[in-house]
Amino acid sequence: MLQLTQKERLLLEDQKVHEESCVQKYTEYVQQAQCPQLKELFSQYASQEQQHLNSINQILSGQVPNVGQEGQQNKAQGSTNPSMQGNTYNQNDEKLCKDVLMTEKYVSSVYNTTIFECTDTNVRKVLNHIQKEEQEHGEGIFNYMRSRGMYNPQ
Ligand SMILES: [Fe+2]
Ligand SMILES: [Fe+2]
Repeated sequence: MLQLTQKERLLLEDQKVHEESCVQKYTEYVQQAQCPQLKELFSQYASQEQQHLNSINQILSGQVPNVGQEGQQNKAQGSTNPSMQGNTYNQNDEKLCKDVLMTEKYVSSVYNTTIFECTDTNVRKVLNHIQKEEQEHGEGIFNYMRSRGMYNPQ
């Protein structure tokens, strides 16, 4: 049974709220997205966010969840071939992408803060694993946006 410090508990309660909001966002955006590839991406991320939420709930209840064995489903997706698709993307799809990219960036940075307060090594490992997946979500969205000409960093 884990003994969480007051500080850990407060930070984890925040992460719980963030994960709930990520689940809700991706679930709604699967419906709103026009592009089938983007729908696919959002739907995959919605289920990973649900796993994150389950892990945070387990830690809050004093258990260390078992993660890491799901492995191969975590490949960052989205085409990496920017020039192929032209610039004929849906404006609302672009809005959804920008929104989730900003969200992932924020959530990932808050995991960093939380991890530094953890007393238990295995809890740190679980949170590291989740943070890595948030970064992969960001990469998937980033690659998708580049492939559609929505984002052209020089
Ligand atoms: Fe998450
Ligand atoms: Fe995420």
